[in-house]
Amino acid sequence: MRIVHSIAETRAALLELRAQNRTVGLVPTMGALHEGHLSLVRAARAQCDAVVATIFVNPTQFGPNEDFSKYPRTFEQDCELLDRERVDLLFAPDAQEMYPAGASTFVEVEGVGDRLDGVSRPGHFRGVATVVAKLFHIVGPDRAFFGQKDAAQVAVLRRMVRDLNFPLEIVVCATVREADGLALSSRNRYLSADERVQALILRRALGEIQARAAEGERESSLLIETGLQVLAMEPYVRLDYLKVVDLDTLEDVRDTRNGALVAVAAWVGATRLIDNVVLPPR
Ligand code: PAJ
Repeated sequence: MRIVHSIAETRAALLELRAQNRTVGLVPTMGALHEGHLSLVRAARAQCDAVVATIFVNPTQFGPNEDFSKYPRTFEQDCELLDRERVDLLFAPDAQEMYPAGASTFVEVEGVGDRLDGVSRPGHFRGVATVVAKLFHIVGPDRAFFGQKDAAQVAVLRRMVRDLNFPLEIVVCATVREADGLALSSRNRYLSADERVQALILRRALGEIQARAAEGERESSLLIETGLQVLAMEPYVRLDYLKVVDLDTLEDVRDTRNGALVAVAAWVGATRLIDNVVLPPR
């Protein structure tokens, strides 16, 4: 695997790949890689001739009181994992390379970007959309791979790709979970042993909602009520939101007959976790 840190080297490497007529898959990450990330790399490997991964802890998507400085950074280990998955090129820039002094242009996905995590993390999706747009311009992939784990991020990026005419396909990969159901996240490593157990309530609440929906309940308010009852069983978990929303617009839906996204965010100790399930149309 070739590792590059500058935009110029990345562009040069991509020119070579393109000259060989190879389709390019892009997997953007912030590092601290786990099986969730690797599932995206494997999907890219299966669907594209060349795989480009990026590792960049993007400062513009973190709020002033968030965990940017303590976000886990495990670069050496990440490189080993990506190399093992036969990634062709790793682009790992520093903040100066991505945001030179005076950088003042941002991508704002209005509406969609102001919902779910966009409410509790103002500016978060502006930072995500901006850095992903830059990565798309730098790499020029045919396909870009993202996880369903961050469903709101997927909605924001799909809208951005449509609105700004990026000539690429977004591929969404299923959420990878621990055996007990906890969605893999780089932030799970912040959890103490007790918090690790408490965190399971997120998945349980979503599971109960799924079960009720499968029984025929379509009314969002009742599905949410079910989820809240489950979450209340774990008093140390502080809910941020539990919502039933449209998959594309992220707006609340009252009825789930056309399908819906059920998304939850909660604080487990000092760690904010998110998870979601998709209810099929019925
Ligand atoms: P990061 O949190 O590192 O996640 C990188 C990619 O891995 C995202 O597409 C995310 O949805 C996916 N992912 C994380 N956990 C997953 C899991 N358990 N199962 C499946 N996929 C999972 O998301 C970001 O970074 C950043 O916002 C980024 C898109 C890189 C822009 O900075």
